Amino acid sequence: MSVAKKEYKRITTKTLVDMKKNGEKISMLTAYDYTMAKIVDSSGIDVILVGDSASNVMAGHETTLPITLDQMIYHASSVIRAIERSLVVVDLPFGTYQSDPKEALRSAIRIMKESGAHAVKVEGGKEIKESIKRILNAGIPVMGHLGLTPQSIYKFGTYTVRAKDQDEATQLKEDALMLEKAGCFAIVLEKVPAQLAEEVAKSVTIPIIGIGAGGGVDGQVLVTHDMIGMTHEFNPRFLRRYLDLYTEMSNAFGKYITDVKSGDFPSEKEQY
Ligand code: KIV
Repeated sequence: MSVAKKEYKRITTKTLVDMKKNGEKISMLTAYDYTMAKIVDSSGIDVILVGDSASNVMAGHETTLPITLDQMIYHASSVIRAIERSLVVVDLPFGTYQSDPKEALRSAIRIMKESGAHAVKVEGGKEIKESIKRILNAGIPVMGHLGLTPQSIYKFGTYTVRAKDQDEATQLKEDALMLEKAGCFAIVLEKVPAQLAEEVAKSVTIPIIGIGAGGGVDGQVLVTHDMIGMTHEFNPRFLRRYLDLYTEMSNAFGKYITDVKSGDFPSEKEQY
């Protein structure tokens, strides 16, 4: 069932900016594989993020740092094969764009060429301005990511709310303006006070897509595996769970085991 307010045949970066102009909220979810992407896309989601959260969700790492460019390209290619309507944005992984703009461009080109993705996402503000410009100059759309930026977890030390103090809030506002001016088409704003997020959304013409940033922004993003309850150890305040698939799946697996052990499965009808 699609609940999109307006039927867009194909979502582009321009569609998102128009949605903001028209006051239509943007929906975004993650996907890392073909089967999940097919369901998410056909549900009418606007943006699919092939997030580097795949490092946690798919590979079981503690942080997003270990995932490689090749692994991101593998995930993105699988997602792209499933897509008919959504815009697909792919995270540039840690270490592939921070050190120098030429390397950033090479990494972004590999993602676009080898996976067929529509845009890339990078974490950070003024410190990666030159890398962002270089990627944009090559015609590759860039989504920014400010606030809590998980690739910098060892600098922050915790995953708590960012920009609660004045200096950090001021820097964040400046970074958002810089990203807009540089030519980014949208910004993810993660785990910052709702009032600050709303101020930022009002200060720029490009969409601000929040995660733990309140309702005053232009759209929302969640990690799909969290919102459908496949993961259950992660319980931040901002997470709304729409399903409890961990329990549902565990029950199904339990029943299957019982049926196999008892000889109930397969029945006569389930064999040749
Ligand atoms: O990697 C990811 O899934 C993200 C979202 C949390 C925005 O960056």
